[in-house]
Amino acid sequence: MNNQFRMKIKALTENVAFTRSCISAFCVGLNPSLEQLDEIKTSSSEAITNAIVHAYPTGGDNFIYVEVRIEDTNLTIIVEDEGVGIEDISQAIQPFFTTKAEEEHSGMGFTLINSFMDKVDIISTKDKGTKIVMQKNIVESTNV
Ligand SMILES: Nc1ncnc2c1ncn2[C@@H]1O[C@H](COP(=O)(O)OP(=O)(O)OP(=O)(O)O)[C@@H](O)[C@H]1O
Ligand SMILES: [Mg+2]
Repeated sequence: MNNQFRMKIKALTENVAFTRSCISAFCVGLNPSLEQLDEIKTSSSEAITNAIVHAYPTGGDNFIYVEVRIEDTNLTIIVEDEGVGIEDISQAIQPFFTTKAEEEHSGMGFTLINSFMDKVDIISTKDKGTKIVMQKNIVESTNV
C-alpha cells in the first residue's frame, strides 16, 4: 500500500495528543502490533513535543508540519519546525541531555525515538529549523 498525508499544526502543547492520534489512526492500515503502535505513538509524541517546546522559545504564532508516508510496509514520519534549530546534534541525542532541566524535561526524547524507530535522521539549521525523519518497517504482527 502507498499512502500519505501532511498537516500544518499550530505549535501549542494542546495539539500534541490530537496530532499523535492522527498519526496512529493513519498507521492502523499497516496492521501494526499493539507494541509497534505504542512505539510509533511515543516516537511521534516526542518529536512533536520537541518541536513545540524547544523550537520557538520566544513564542508568537508558530507552526509545525507533520508528514506521514506509507510505502508497502515502510512507515516514514517527518516532523518539521521553523524554529531555532539544534546547535549540536550529537550532544542533543545523548541520553539525559536537556536544555530544559528546570521544566522537568529529562533529556530522553531522542533516546526513545532512536530505540523505537529503525532509522532516524535529524536535519537542523540554526535559526531556520529542524526536520526529524523517522522510519520504521512494520512487519506483520504475527511475525514479531
Ligand atoms: N525541534 C527542536 N528544536 C530545537 N531544539 C531541539 C529540538 N528538539 C530537541 N531539541 C534540543 O535537544 C535536546 C534533547 O531533546 P530530547 O527530546 O532528547 O530531550 P528533552 O526534550 O530536553 O527532554 P524530554 O524529551 O525527556 O522531555 C533538547 O533539550 C533541546 O535542547
Ligand atoms: Mg524531548
